[in-house]
Amino acid sequence: MTEVAFLLNGTQVVLKGVSPTRTLLEYLREDIALCGTKEGCNEGDCGACTVIVTDGAGAKALNACILFLPQIHGKAIRTVEGISAPDGTAHPVQREMHRHHGSQCGFCTPGFIASMAAAHLNGDRDHDTTLAGNLCRCTGYAPIVRAARAAESAPVPAHLKTDAAFTLAQISSGGERGTREGADSRPQSMDELAAWYAAHPDATLIGGATDVGLWVNKQHRDLPKIAFLNGVSDMAQITDLGARLHIGAGVTIEALRLAMAAHHPSFAELLRRYASTQIRNAATIGGNIANGSPIGDGPPALIALGAVLHLRQGDATRDLPLEDFFLDYRKQDRRLGEFVTGVTLPKSAPHFRAYKISKRFDQDISAVCGCFNIEIAAGKITSARVAFGGMAGIPKRAAAVEAALIGQALNPQTAAEIAPLMSRDFSPLSDMRASKEYRLSIAQNLLIRYAHDLAGAPTSVMEVRV
Ligand SMILES: Cc1cc2nc3c(=O)[nH]c(=O)nc-3n(C[C@H](O)[C@H](O)[C@H](O)COP(=O)(O)OP(=O)(O)OC[C@H]3O[C@@H](n4cnc5c(N)ncnc54)[C@H](O)[C@@H]3O)c2cc1C
Ligand code: FES
Ligand code: FES
Repeated sequence: MTEVAFLLNGTQVVLKGVSPTRTLLEYLREDIALCGTKEGCNEGDCGACTVIVTDGAGAKALNACILFLPQIHGKAIRTVEGISAPDGTAHPVQREMHRHHGSQCGFCTPGFIASMAAAHLNGDRDHDTTLAGNLCRCTGYAPIVRAARAAESAPVPAHLKTDAAFTLAQISSGGERGTREGADSRPQSMDELAAWYAAHPDATLIGGATDVGLWVNKQHRDLPKIAFLNGVSDMAQITDLGARLHIGAGVTIEALRLAMAAHHPSFAELLRRYASTQIRNAATIGGNIANGSPIGDGPPALIALGAVLHLRQGDATRDLPLEDFFLDYRKQDRRLGEFVTGVTLPKSAPHFRAYKISKRFDQDISAVCGCFNIEIAAGKITSARVAFGGMAGIPKRAAAVEAALIGQALNPQTAAEIAPLMSRDFSPLSDMRASKEYRLSIAQNLLIRYAHDLAGAPTSVMEVRV
């Protein structure tokens, strides 16, 4: 049976025989009545369930509602009850929330406190970004952000520093990794994963569980066999290959965002608008690709960058252009027992740009995501990769637009002339995010925006003032 060992607010916990899809939030609220951590949406959207999770990679804010207990094995957890000192002294962010009137009904407050304390611990002062995954429906964000700012220079309380020194070996021999009589696995390497998955090809792989968590919480699906991938450390690396970068499937969206800032700043900016800090800290790029969503943000950007996908089945590996992986709506070129090991992409693409169109700036799925990448020689376009999410049942290249761009000098006028070809490439659908007419029109406008952007015009309007 599953053994899960972790540190909870400084106290060692070893659980045996837990269901692999029991969430940390259920454990806290239902099993041990530690009810400071709240349940709002139960699907990763509101941040009411935020806790701090610390491991060798540092301290992160995560949503406990879509965090399965086996995912926290060997880690240190801080809930709102453990953020104040053992003698009851308030944490600096708690003190400042009180002083700045940052709480009214208080339902969202424990989640805000956990996000703020995690950011404070990490010295992260970009409060708009770190708090984008916490929703408050009564106080308003200004007093909360003021409180976060006021706490910035206060020292990190000593009791929060000890979590980083915690190691699994202190409380567990490593635990039993095979669970439910072999039906679940916590592999520690790609070789282990490949061997187990080849023997259990009908199993569900779980990366960050930001999709799978919803299958369990919202669709009440049973997952008879599971492999948790978060221990597969050789699949969670970013490797510099000279002119290219290899991104392991287990790299989180947040780690990818930080890495992309130096190489593809527009991709990093797109990833900043991917869900919230809590989701990015959990979600992996492998899950984002394998999930095959037509509105995932990673695939269009990676396709425009010319990424190559790497797959493995047992000892056999194969590579393919990422766009060829997506066959039809939710149908990918993935064989039984085969898993995504990573992607490789060029380190440099100076003309790459990615634009996300969604109803809200933060914490929203794209209605349309347009990504553009051209090469220019002697003033003329010599190669073009244009890929969209939200325009078809799969992330898809705009073949007619790409062909028309070759040989042109890109400027807003040529872009406007070529833009109508989007209707040859795409017949989008209407849904709750956007109508088909809006989608087609925005795709055309994004090509024109791209031309303005490359010409140096300001195209990102973060704030509108009158
Ligand atoms: C609140 C919220 C907001 C979100 N916002 C966005 C957003 O803005 N943009 C966006 O693109 N997505 C968004 N998502 C969707 C989700 O975060 C992504 O699809 C995510 O990248 C999935 O990664 P994961 O590691 O959590 O996958 P999981 O949930 O663990 O798995 C997803 C799927 O991939 C499979 N899988 C995982 N790893 C592998 C692997 N290595 N090989 C083969 N199969 C694998 C799983 O079996 C499953 O089928 C959001 C989700 C939530 C809950
Ligand atoms: S309860 Fe809303 S994010 Fe977890
Ligand atoms: S204080 Fe009521 S939801 Fe934030």
